[in-house]
Amino acid sequence: MTKDSKNHKHAPLIGIDIGGTGIKGGIVDLKKGKLLGERFRIPTPQPSTPEAVAEVVAEIVKELSSRPDAPAEGSPVGVTFPGIIQHGVVRSAANVDKSWLDTDVDKLFSDRLGRPVEVINDADAAGLAEARYGAGEGVDGTVLVITLGTGIGSAFIFNGQLVPNAELGHLEVDGHDAETKASAVARERDGLSWDEYGVKLNRYLQHVEFLFSPELFIIGGGISKRSDEYFPHLQLRTKIVTAELKNDAGIVGAALEVAFHHKLVK
Ligand code: BGC
Repeated sequence: MTKDSKNHKHAPLIGIDIGGTGIKGGIVDLKKGKLLGERFRIPTPQPSTPEAVAEVVAEIVKELSSRPDAPAEGSPVGVTFPGIIQHGVVRSAANVDKSWLDTDVDKLFSDRLGRPVEVINDADAAGLAEARYGAGEGVDGTVLVITLGTGIGSAFIFNGQLVPNAELGHLEVDGHDAETKASAVARERDGLSWDEYGVKLNRYLQHVEFLFSPELFIIGGGISKRSDEYFPHLQLRTKIVTAELKNDAGIVGAALEVAFHHKLVK
Protein backbone atom coordinates (compact mmCIF):
# COMPACT_ATOMS: atom_id res chain seq x y z
CA MET A 1 0.00 0.00 0.00
CA THR A 2 1.39 3.41 -0.88
CA LYS A 3 1.55 6.13 1.73
CA ASP A 4 -1.02 8.05 -0.28
CA SER A 5 -3.60 5.29 -0.43
CA LYS A 6 -3.08 4.72 3.29
CA ASN A 7 -3.93 8.33 3.91
CA HIS A 8 -7.20 7.83 2.10
CA LYS A 9 -8.30 5.13 4.54
CA HIS A 10 -11.14 6.57 6.56
CA ALA A 11 -11.28 9.69 4.39
CA PRO A 12 -14.76 11.23 4.73
CA LEU A 13 -17.50 10.19 2.32
CA ILE A 14 -20.96 11.47 1.48
CA GLY A 15 -23.97 9.53 2.76
CA ILE A 16 -27.58 10.20 1.76
CA ASP A 17 -30.73 8.89 3.42
CA ILE A 18 -33.89 8.76 1.33
CA GLY A 19 -37.03 8.90 3.46
CA GLY A 20 -40.73 9.34 2.79
CA THR A 21 -40.77 13.00 3.86
CA GLY A 22 -37.18 14.13 3.55
CA ILE A 23 -33.94 13.33 1.78
CA LYS A 24 -30.96 14.05 4.04
CA GLY A 25 -27.28 14.03 3.32
CA GLY A 26 -24.07 14.61 5.21
CA ILE A 27 -20.31 14.27 5.06
CA VAL A 28 -19.37 11.31 7.21
CA ASP A 29 -16.21 10.93 9.25
CA LEU A 30 -15.80 7.16 9.01
CA LYS A 31 -13.34 6.95 11.86
CA LYS A 32 -15.81 8.35 14.35
CA GLY A 33 -19.07 7.45 12.64
CA LYS A 34 -20.15 11.09 12.91
CA LEU A 35 -21.13 13.86 10.55
CA LEU A 36 -18.65 16.57 9.71
CA GLY A 37 -20.73 19.71 9.77
CA GLU A 38 -24.47 20.05 9.43
CA ARG A 39 -26.67 17.69 7.51
CA PHE A 40 -28.51 19.04 4.51
CA ARG A 41 -32.18 18.17 3.95
CA ILE A 42 -34.58 18.67 1.09
CA PRO A 43 -38.23 17.52 1.29
CA THR A 44 -38.92 14.36 -0.70
CA PRO A 45 -40.55 15.38 -4.00
CA GLN A 46 -44.13 14.25 -4.59
CA PRO A 47 -44.68 12.04 -6.44
CA SER A 48 -41.36 10.52 -5.41
CA THR A 49 -40.49 9.04 -8.77
CA PRO A 50 -36.95 7.79 -9.44
CA GLU A 51 -36.10 10.77 -11.68
CA ALA A 52 -37.41 13.38 -9.22
CA VAL A 53 -35.54 11.77 -6.32
CA ALA A 54 -32.32 11.46 -8.37
CA GLU A 55 -32.55 15.20 -9.00
CA VAL A 56 -32.77 15.95 -5.28
CA VAL A 57 -29.91 13.55 -4.51
CA ALA A 58 -27.80 15.45 -7.06
CA GLU A 59 -28.69 18.80 -5.42
CA ILE A 60 -27.65 17.47 -2.01
CA VAL A 61 -24.35 16.12 -3.34
CA LYS A 62 -23.71 19.47 -4.99
CA GLU A 63 -24.26 21.37 -1.75
CA LEU A 64 -22.10 19.00 0.30
CA SER A 65 -19.36 19.06 -2.33
CA SER A 66 -19.11 22.83 -2.09
CA ARG A 67 -18.04 22.67 1.57
CA PRO A 68 -14.42 22.89 2.76
CA ASP A 69 -14.69 19.41 4.34
CA ALA A 70 -16.00 17.85 1.12
CA PRO A 71 -14.64 14.44 0.15
CA ALA A 72 -12.39 14.25 -2.90
CA GLU A 73 -14.13 15.06 -6.16
CA GLY A 74 -15.57 11.95 -7.78
CA SER A 75 -15.37 9.88 -4.60
CA PRO A 76 -18.14 7.32 -4.17
CA VAL A 77 -21.45 8.17 -2.54
CA GLY A 78 -23.63 5.91 -0.38
CA VAL A 79 -27.42 6.18 -0.51
CA THR A 80 -30.20 4.47 1.45
CA PHE A 81 -33.57 3.40 0.07
CA PRO A 82 -36.68 2.28 1.98
CA GLY A 83 -37.11 -1.06 0.19
CA ILE A 84 -35.28 -4.27 -0.69
CA ILE A 85 -32.10 -3.60 -2.65
CA GLN A 86 -30.44 -6.56 -4.29
CA HIS A 87 -27.44 -6.04 -6.57
CA GLY A 88 -28.34 -2.36 -6.79
CA VAL A 89 -31.91 -3.05 -7.95
CA VAL A 90 -35.10 -2.13 -6.05
CA ARG A 91 -37.13 -5.26 -5.31
CA SER A 92 -39.89 -3.89 -3.07
CA ALA A 93 -41.68 -0.57 -2.68
CA ALA A 94 -44.06 -0.89 0.28
CA ASN A 95 -44.16 2.81 1.18
CA VAL A 96 -42.79 4.53 -1.92
CA ASP A 97 -43.91 5.18 -5.48
CA LYS A 98 -44.38 1.83 -7.23
CA SER A 99 -42.42 3.09 -10.25
CA TRP A 100 -39.26 2.27 -8.25
CA LEU A 101 -39.81 -1.47 -8.61
CA ASP A 102 -37.03 -3.12 -10.61
CA THR A 103 -35.17 0.18 -11.04
CA ASP A 104 -31.39 -0.24 -11.08
CA VAL A 105 -30.81 2.53 -8.54
CA ASP A 106 -27.04 2.12 -8.40
CA LYS A 107 -27.00 2.93 -12.10
CA LEU A 108 -29.65 5.67 -11.96
CA PHE A 109 -27.78 7.62 -9.28
CA SER A 110 -24.28 6.87 -10.64
CA ASP A 111 -25.32 8.15 -14.07
CA ARG A 112 -26.95 11.27 -12.60
CA LEU A 113 -24.02 12.09 -10.29
CA GLY A 114 -21.20 11.01 -12.55
CA ARG A 115 -19.57 9.16 -9.63
CA PRO A 116 -19.90 5.65 -8.19
CA VAL A 117 -22.98 5.15 -6.02
CA GLU A 118 -23.90 2.22 -3.79
CA VAL A 119 -27.49 1.95 -2.58
CA ILE A 120 -28.48 0.01 0.54
CA ASN A 121 -31.77 -0.61 2.35
CA ASP A 122 -32.42 2.16 4.91
CA ALA A 123 -32.72 -0.10 7.95
CA ASP A 124 -29.66 -2.10 6.87
CA ALA A 125 -27.72 1.17 6.75
CA ALA A 126 -28.89 2.11 10.25
CA GLY A 127 -27.94 -1.38 11.41
CA LEU A 128 -24.43 -1.18 9.95
CA ALA A 129 -23.88 2.17 11.64
CA GLU A 130 -25.19 0.99 15.03
CA ALA A 131 -23.13 -2.20 14.86
CA ARG A 132 -19.89 -0.32 14.21
CA TYR A 133 -20.28 2.94 16.09
CA GLY A 134 -23.38 2.69 18.24
CA ALA A 135 -25.40 0.49 20.57
CA GLY A 136 -24.35 -2.74 18.84
CA GLU A 137 -20.61 -2.10 18.94
CA GLY A 138 -18.74 -5.18 20.12
CA VAL A 139 -21.89 -7.28 20.64
CA ASP A 140 -21.48 -10.89 19.50
CA GLY A 141 -24.27 -13.07 18.17
CA THR A 142 -27.53 -11.83 16.70
CA VAL A 143 -28.40 -8.15 17.02
CA LEU A 144 -31.67 -6.96 15.54
CA VAL A 145 -32.06 -3.29 14.74
CA ILE A 146 -35.74 -2.41 14.35
CA THR A 147 -36.65 1.02 12.97
CA LEU A 148 -40.12 2.37 13.69
CA GLY A 149 -41.24 4.97 11.18
CA THR A 150 -43.63 4.98 8.23
CA GLY A 151 -43.02 1.25 8.06
CA ILE A 152 -40.96 -1.09 10.21
CA GLY A 153 -37.43 -1.62 8.98
CA SER A 154 -35.05 -4.25 10.27
CA ALA A 155 -31.36 -5.06 10.11
CA PHE A 156 -30.09 -8.51 11.00
CA ILE A 157 -26.53 -8.35 12.33
CA PHE A 158 -24.58 -11.45 13.29
CA ASN A 159 -21.15 -11.06 14.93
CA GLY A 160 -21.01 -7.53 13.56
CA GLN A 161 -21.81 -8.59 9.99
CA LEU A 162 -24.98 -7.54 8.23
CA VAL A 163 -27.22 -10.19 6.70
CA PRO A 164 -28.93 -7.88 4.19
CA ASN A 165 -32.60 -7.38 3.40
CA ALA A 166 -34.21 -9.01 6.40
CA GLU A 167 -37.75 -7.67 6.01
CA LEU A 168 -38.97 -8.38 9.52
CA GLY A 169 -41.43 -5.48 9.40
CA HIS A 170 -43.54 -7.59 7.07
CA LEU A 171 -43.88 -10.58 9.36
CA GLU A 172 -47.50 -11.55 9.75
CA VAL A 173 -48.67 -11.03 13.32
CA ASP A 174 -52.29 -11.77 14.30
CA GLY A 175 -53.27 -11.87 10.63
CA HIS A 176 -51.72 -8.49 9.74
CA ASP A 177 -48.56 -7.31 8.07
CA ALA A 178 -46.79 -6.19 11.28
CA GLU A 179 -45.81 -2.72 10.07
CA THR A 180 -49.45 -1.82 9.38
CA LYS A 181 -50.14 -2.14 13.14
CA ALA A 182 -46.91 -1.45 15.01
CA SER A 183 -45.03 1.25 13.07
CA ALA A 184 -44.86 4.83 14.34
CA VAL A 185 -47.21 5.95 11.56
CA ALA A 186 -49.68 3.15 12.41
CA ARG A 187 -49.77 4.46 15.99
CA GLU A 188 -50.69 7.94 14.81
CA ARG A 189 -53.13 6.75 12.15
CA ASP A 190 -54.94 4.44 14.59
CA GLY A 191 -54.93 7.11 17.33
CA LEU A 192 -53.24 4.79 19.85
CA SER A 193 -52.14 6.03 23.25
CA TRP A 194 -48.56 5.19 24.21
CA ASP A 195 -49.88 2.45 26.47
CA GLU A 196 -51.90 0.90 23.66
CA TYR A 197 -48.96 1.22 21.32
CA GLY A 198 -46.64 -0.42 23.86
CA VAL A 199 -48.92 -3.46 23.92
CA LYS A 200 -48.92 -3.71 20.10
CA LEU A 201 -45.16 -3.32 19.90
CA ASN A 202 -44.68 -5.91 22.62
CA ARG A 203 -46.77 -8.40 20.64
CA TYR A 204 -44.62 -7.79 17.58
CA LEU A 205 -41.25 -7.90 19.34
CA GLN A 206 -42.19 -11.04 21.27
CA HIS A 207 -42.86 -12.75 17.95
CA VAL A 208 -39.52 -11.61 16.52
CA GLU A 209 -37.78 -12.71 19.71
CA PHE A 210 -39.40 -16.15 19.48
CA LEU A 211 -38.20 -16.56 15.89
CA PHE A 212 -34.62 -15.32 16.26
CA SER A 213 -33.61 -15.29 19.95
CA PRO A 214 -31.39 -12.23 19.49
CA GLU A 215 -28.82 -11.05 22.04
CA LEU A 216 -29.95 -7.46 21.67
CA PHE A 217 -32.74 -5.37 20.15
CA ILE A 218 -31.85 -1.84 19.09
CA ILE A 219 -34.85 0.40 18.42
CA GLY A 220 -34.41 3.23 15.93
CA GLY A 221 -36.61 5.70 14.09
CA GLY A 222 -38.01 9.03 15.25
CA ILE A 223 -40.07 7.56 18.11
CA SER A 224 -37.07 5.90 19.71
CA LYS A 225 -36.66 9.17 21.63
CA ARG A 226 -40.07 8.53 23.26
CA SER A 227 -39.07 5.05 24.42
CA ASP A 228 -39.88 5.93 28.06
CA GLU A 229 -43.52 5.92 27.00
CA TYR A 230 -43.65 2.38 25.61
CA PHE A 231 -40.60 0.43 26.84
CA PRO A 232 -42.35 -0.24 30.20
CA HIS A 233 -44.88 -2.38 28.27
CA LEU A 234 -42.28 -4.63 26.73
CA GLN A 235 -41.98 -8.07 28.27
CA LEU A 236 -38.97 -9.56 26.57
CA ARG A 237 -36.15 -11.75 27.73
CA THR A 238 -33.87 -9.91 25.29
CA LYS A 239 -32.06 -6.73 26.26
CA ILE A 240 -33.53 -3.74 24.41
CA VAL A 241 -31.98 -0.30 23.94
CA THR A 242 -32.51 2.70 21.70
CA ALA A 243 -30.25 3.50 18.75
CA GLU A 244 -27.34 5.81 19.55
CA LEU A 245 -26.82 7.47 16.19
CA LYS A 246 -30.38 8.81 16.14
CA ASN A 247 -31.25 10.68 12.96
CA ASP A 248 -27.79 10.25 11.46
CA ALA A 249 -27.72 6.43 11.43
CA GLY A 250 -28.93 6.15 7.83
CA ILE A 251 -26.47 8.73 6.49
CA VAL A 252 -23.54 7.19 8.39
CA GLY A 253 -24.52 3.65 7.36
CA ALA A 254 -24.87 4.63 3.71
CA ALA A 255 -21.35 6.10 3.71
CA LEU A 256 -20.03 3.04 5.53
CA GLU A 257 -21.57 0.65 3.02
CA VAL A 258 -20.01 2.42 0.06
CA ALA A 259 -16.68 2.54 1.92
CA PHE A 260 -16.87 -1.24 2.48
CA HIS A 261 -17.71 -1.77 -1.16
CA HIS A 262 -14.69 0.21 -2.32
CA LYS A 263 -12.48 -1.33 0.39
CA LEU A 264 -11.88 2.08 1.97
CA VAL A 265 -12.55 0.66 5.44
CA LYS A 266 -12.32 -2.84 6.89
C1 BGC B 1 -39.74 -1.73 3.78
C2 BGC B 1 -38.32 -1.90 4.24
C3 BGC B 1 -37.84 -0.61 4.89
C4 BGC B 1 -38.80 -0.18 5.98
C5 BGC B 1 -38.40 1.14 6.60
C6 BGC B 1 -40.60 -1.28 4.92
O1 BGC B 1 -41.92 -1.11 4.49
O2 BGC B 1 -40.25 -2.95 3.25
O3 BGC B 1 -37.49 -2.26 3.18
O4 BGC B 1 -36.56 -0.81 5.42
O5 BGC B 1 -40.11 -0.06 5.46
O6 BGC B 1 -38.35 2.16 5.69
